[in-house]
Amino acid sequence: MTSLRKFVIGIGISFGLPWLLLIVVPAISAQKLTTLSYDKERDGMEGAYPGKGIYRQGQLIYAKEGCTQCHTQMIRPGFAGILDPWKKGWGSDQAETPAQPIRPSTQRDYMFEPYAYLGVQRNGPDLTNAGYRLADKSRLEIHEHLYSPQAVNKWSIMPGFRHLYKVQPIQAAGSPKALKLPAAFAPEKGYEVVPTAEAEELVNYLLSLKKDAPIPGEVVADTAAKK
Ligand code: HEC
Repeated sequence: MTSLRKFVIGIGISFGLPWLLLIVVPAISAQKLTTLSYDKERDGMEGAYPGKGIYRQGQLIYAKEGCTQCHTQMIRPGFAGILDPWKKGWGSDQAETPAQPIRPSTQRDYMFEPYAYLGVQRNGPDLTNAGYRLADKSRLEIHEHLYSPQAVNKWSIMPGFRHLYKVQPIQAAGSPKALKLPAAFAPEKGYEVVPTAEAEELVNYLLSLKKDAPIPGEVVADTAAKK
């Protein structure tokens, strides 16, 4: 009897302690997080960190489509060196060798997200700051990539999310939103591909991914000047 009791207590501790330390304590600490304000004198900028966060409506599509199976949204601390090749173009500074190191992600970066889509595998590029890279492209180009990644990068292993688009007969001069696709990916003659509302929401979300706001108290002069 005593050995059964020891066994049950032992099992309880083996599962209970990690649950408490790895789930309950971090969850409580995350719920207590508050925004930090910038100090005009110290940081040279005003406002609060984090800012307004991501475009939530589109995040639901991102979750539903399983983009997290291949894309992460977390920059690990080990990758924070300036000369680290992983850092090229990962933040607002898109230069080959960014002037400022791009900072690793912090807990606060995800404050306004009911779920943080950190990702499980990095088969595609990390999307923490994808909004900066995509800003160089037109919405049409972003849609063309989501519809058929191989039309943009032949070697891409990303699947096309064609169900987020509608194939319709071309009326008059055609829709201004119609994707410009290479012949191999284009629909039948007389038809055009246009984004659905879901695809538009997803692109809004991707464009909102800019999680490299400087942390109050750690603002580098250069970054402050740029904002
Ligand atoms: C099977 C893995 C896989 C899935 C699932 C996937 N992607 Fe990708 N993604 C990739 C790969 C690989 C690349 C790089 C090659 C390319 O550009 O196509 C990429 C590139 C991208 C880029 C360009 C990133 C950059 O840095 O410029 C965006 C944006 C993107 N994916 C968004 C998405 C979205 C949104 C979804 C979900 C609807 C998704 N991906 C699902 C593998 C995937």
